[in-house]
Amino acid sequence: MNLIFLGPPGAGKGTIATLAAKHYGIPHISSGQLFRKHIEQETDLGLAISALMESGDLVPDTLTVSLIDQRLSKADAQNGFILDGFPRTIVQAKALQELTEVDLVINLNLDKEQILSRLSGRRYCKSTGRTYHIIYNPPKVDGIDDETGEALIQRDDDQPEAILHRLEVYEDQTFPLIDYYRSRNLLVDIDAAPAPEVIFTALKAELNQRLELG
Ligand code: AP5
Repeated sequence: MNLIFLGPPGAGKGTIATLAAKHYGIPHISSGQLFRKHIEQETDLGLAISALMESGDLVPDTLTVSLIDQRLSKADAQNGFILDGFPRTIVQAKALQELTEVDLVINLNLDKEQILSRLSGRRYCKSTGRTYHIIYNPPKVDGIDDETGEALIQRDDDQPEAILHRLEVYEDQTFPLIDYYRSRNLLVDIDAAPAPEVIFTALKAELNQRLELG
């Protein structure tokens, strides 16, 4: 089962993809998380893209497609995957088409007010990528990751100015993918406003209906 999770910043792509990957036993591949690892490890790629990511701009298509190509060629992705945050441009969608088949595109819908509330309250663990929210999904101990005990941090691109810029970039460059995939009869719209468990139940029902899965 090859799935894409589409949606604006903060819609909950990573949160729902984590639940789905565990349930279906397929890898959750987040382009943003792969890039953040490169930045943390100060690789050549990480050094080249850190300013772009901090401001909320997209990484160039060629670099992004190459990163995803490498990740999809790994053994664990041969029986399915969830792509979270990729593709994000029509160029990337066309490149993905050359790499592999896509079974379904899950489009998570959320209004701007809730997006801002989710992103401004998000905290994350740098080493694992585990994500929390100060109100909706707090850690057991304030500011500390439940499993590693590390201090939680706020992403640089979750600062107010960068959030607004990411939303503009989404509207301009990623929103057109909705029509791109709808016209190919691959798009499923899901309301991302309820609690994660409710969204995940709706997702399972859609997958069951469209792909005949449990
Ligand atoms: P990326 O990491 O992909 O960021 P994004 O798309 O902006 O998405 P987010 O990770 O911000 O949000 P999400 O939808 O996963 O929400 P989450 O589950 O965390 O990309 C970052 C950057 O990397 C880009 O700006 C770009 O520079 C670069 N990049 C990445 N991919 C690229 C590509 N393909 N091409 C070019 N550049 C690329 O949830 C958000 C918060 O809400 C959390 O706190 C969570 O706990 C909470 N929450 C989630 N669901 C719910 C719920 N149902 N109810 C209440 N709270 C919830």
